[in-house]
Amino acid sequence: MNARCLKKLFVDFFVSKNHVEIPSASLIPENDPSTLFISAGIQPLVPYFLGTPHPCGKRLVNVQKCIRTGDIDEVGDCVHHTFFEMLGNWSLGDYFKETMIPWSFEFLTKSLNIPVNKLAISYFEGDNDAPKDVETAALWEKQGIPSQRIVLLPKKNNWWGPPGITGPCGPDTEMFYWAAVSPPPHNFDPNDSNWVEIWNDVLIQYFKNGQGIYEKLVQNNIDTGMGVERTLAVLNGLSDNYQTSIWRSIIATIEKLSKMDYGDKPDEFYIKDGKQFWVDVRKSVRIIADHLRAAVFIIADGVEPSNKETGYVLRRLIRRAVRHGKIIGIEKNFCQDVAQSILDNQESFAGIYPELNQNKNKILEIISVEEIKFRKTLNRGLSEINKLIIRNQNLPGQEAFNLYQSFGFPLELIKEELKKNNLSLDVSEFNRSKEEHQKQSQTLSAGKFKSGLADNSEIITRYHTATHLLHAALRKILGGHVQQSGSNITAKRLRFDFSHSEKLSKEQLKQVSDLVNQQIKNKLNVTIEAISFIEAQKEGALAFFGTKYPDTVSVYTIGDNATFFSKEVCTGPHVTNAGVLGIFEIIKEESAGSGKRRIYAILK
Ligand code: ALA
Repeated sequence: MNARCLKKLFVDFFVSKNHVEIPSASLIPENDPSTLFISAGIQPLVPYFLGTPHPCGKRLVNVQKCIRTGDIDEVGDCVHHTFFEMLGNWSLGDYFKETMIPWSFEFLTKSLNIPVNKLAISYFEGDNDAPKDVETAALWEKQGIPSQRIVLLPKKNNWWGPPGITGPCGPDTEMFYWAAVSPPPHNFDPNDSNWVEIWNDVLIQYFKNGQGIYEKLVQNNIDTGMGVERTLAVLNGLSDNYQTSIWRSIIATIEKLSKMDYGDKPDEFYIKDGKQFWVDVRKSVRIIADHLRAAVFIIADGVEPSNKETGYVLRRLIRRAVRHGKIIGIEKNFCQDVAQSILDNQESFAGIYPELNQNKNKILEIISVEEIKFRKTLNRGLSEINKLIIRNQNLPGQEAFNLYQSFGFPLELIKEELKKNNLSLDVSEFNRSKEEHQKQSQTLSAGKFKSGLADNSEIITRYHTATHLLHAALRKILGGHVQQSGSNITAKRLRFDFSHSEKLSKEQLKQVSDLVNQQIKNKLNVTIEAISFIEAQKEGALAFFGTKYPDTVSVYTIGDNATFFSKEVCTGPHVTNAGVLGIFEIIKEESAGSGKRRIYAILK
């Protein structure tokens, strides 16, 4: 079984059950400042769980690109990935668990041919927020799963979401596969790591509000998620996800560059240039492969390395890859070669995600520039260590952590350098500093989620509509070359990035805001229609170049259909009349990178 086959089986199965396949959304959430990356298939669909009708109907299926940044430090073992693909199907107020559980059983045992004897199930034991899910257990038993293979678990295991502080969520039921060669034991013990979770059916019935209260949603929904990498590995009898065909060409490139063999023993002493050193080759190869694959996809979705947010994640990924290249003995610049092997892989990546081909040169350029920059820093870090060595000082843990943090210098390398000179390091002080730093960054990223997912509050909705007016006004004043390249909305302001190479004059800014305010004054109606994507383009609706859209899309029109001021393919939400927006004011205009400008505006 390869990835293409698994994805096709999944999508075809749900299409045969009247689902519509929708394309993967971008890794960067649209109009959602509360999270950095899309981390589950449900995330871009949140508005549709809260009542907005989806243009493709109530049954959806897709393969979604995901990034989980919480896992970055775990990457290096057999099972963690930063970027991964998630198979998912959704019922938006249509079928519920009575239908989903028999379908899950059918897909696992018929489409994937998994023997019933290798399956086990967990479900939610109930707490003060929601009752024990007795129906789910009965539904699984009815399918033929014996009761000793069905266990109750608490909220920390069997509840999913919301991904931010607020949003849709619910109890879930997880499916486990016996991945060892030995026969499966009679009883299911969820602590036995040979039972690998392969699928999660989330029974979305609640909305967690800002006060932490679980409110019952008006409709019952289904959200499922199956990780392609993990499922593929277990179905092929592999305990290491990186040994599946997905990774073959990437790992072969790294092996060639490093002259080290991934298939060799996991860690080993090596002798190179007369020096002996200890290397966990597999760990480093996995980190390089994972991080550069994630970097390629993140850049393809429009992110560039920086010291902030998504740009900082990207920077860390490339840097960690470079560091591990050095660990396995790659001295020359190599990241571009690894990225090229990902871009060349039609079967697993480029043939499926057109954004890779469309941004090929940019991806290679950005990765190469970042690597060159970092190598200088890395060498500076090494010379810092050498200074300490010359002074013959043991390295205080705090200082080691600074090297680790500011120069991206790996602890193993620091230790190795010191050891060669009979010096040592206070590891516990290093760990204390690291924990302190992690606590701080967790607080920071928790802050990112404060406003909750897909905030559909009234003010955010008004800013969404104002963004469409601004986009249309810019095109009318500056020309049709203006295209949205990014948008970020908070309750305080909108931020809009667009293609245009020169700074806007005061006069142009005034013309743009006057034009927007005129439409507000004219109280233009905002209407929504669900039409085919081709029809939408014929009608002149703006859409993003390079984004894959579903066959049927929502189009928002501001003004009469014949003489509209703005028409865009969009997921909304929007106000129904522009008259409620208030006064639109541009507060700042600046560069947003080469050929791009950025506008901040407020509604008063
Ligand atoms: N949203 C669910 C998950 O990520 C399916 O596991």
